[in-house]
Amino acid sequence: MRVLLTGGAGFIGSHTAVELMQAGHQVVLYDNFSNSSPDVLSAIQTVVGIAPTTVEGDVRDTQLLTRTLQDNGIEGVIHLAGLKSVAESRLAPWSYYDNNVTGTLSLLKAMSDSHIAKLIFSSSATVYGQPTRVPLAENQTGGSLTNPYGRSKMFVESILRDIVIADASWSIICLRYFNPVGAHPSGRLGENPNGEATHLFPCVVRAATGRAPSVDVFGTDYDTPDGTAIRDYIHVVDLALGHVHAIECIERFCGFDVINLGTGMGYSVLDVIKTFEKACGHPISVRFSPRRKGDVSACWADTSKARDVLHWSATHDLETMCSTALAFALGSIPGKRE
Ligand code: WQD
Repeated sequence: MRVLLTGGAGFIGSHTAVELMQAGHQVVLYDNFSNSSPDVLSAIQTVVGIAPTTVEGDVRDTQLLTRTLQDNGIEGVIHLAGLKSVAESRLAPWSYYDNNVTGTLSLLKAMSDSHIAKLIFSSSATVYGQPTRVPLAENQTGGSLTNPYGRSKMFVESILRDIVIADASWSIICLRYFNPVGAHPSGRLGENPNGEATHLFPCVVRAATGRAPSVDVFGTDYDTPDGTAIRDYIHVVDLALGHVHAIECIERFCGFDVINLGTGMGYSVLDVIKTFEKACGHPISVRFSPRRKGDVSACWADTSKARDVLHWSATHDLETMCSTALAFALGSIPGKRE
């Protein structure tokens, strides 16, 4: 299939592009490079052997998006472009709704005008809000959403569901990512946020590689075995492969569905830090801090629907998530390779 990836130069987009191209799909990247670098394009070419067609643009530029879809004969879209920090969304809600909701409406207009009706949407486990029980199955939404980021994703899921109810020719799958982490085994692709890191893995990596004095542990009084918050971390290559399976699924079906992409395993903040210490071979300095506003205590996926519908399951373990994240970071620091 000829697939457009909005946000295709980002952390998840670049890894998804690699797996799609290696599975024989044709890929066009569309990105405004607000949270990614054009350097990723040469990294993809190094890994795959060919460079993906790339258009620099914002998803809110409906005219450019429409031209890109039509000029490249696109048959399906994976919509990854959007803002994704829980903490940041609380400070800049307008920006989150403009990028994530208005941006999606712009894409849907461009797709409709181009007679394209196959869409994979990058949704998030944050739509579950404060879980009442775990593991989380797809029908367990309805928890009080704790931040504009999660609300923006829930709004878009509702818009997409309504579109399919109005026109059954659409084929839309919303993939609810849990916590994507790690890096490509080649060491050429990984998580490299522009500006300040807010997610746990990049923060631990910065402390482990000497680019930060320590890592904050936000909250030690959660109702969990070691008192720190639990998340379902999933290797970004597993997540990318989940998209390949989803694309192959929407080639076969019409309608609407939502599917978790997680491992079904929960790890605490301290579990992650200890695993990084094993990977880097030295202690990592921590600073115990109060809980971060909007965080939930424990969140991990029920993965049975992904297994049954997408015929996909995650395979990478926490050790590999940490070791690949570290290898990528060391490779991108001049002179730091071991
Ligand atoms: C994880 C835990 C923090 C930083 C994610 C992202 C996104 C979404 C899923 C797709 C929390 C703690 C963090 C630090 C810490 N997926 N932490 N010290 O909050 O689960 O959000 O939700 O869209 O990946 O939005 O991820 O990595 O920010 O935090 O103790 O320096 O690590 O309090 O408990 P989060 P995170």
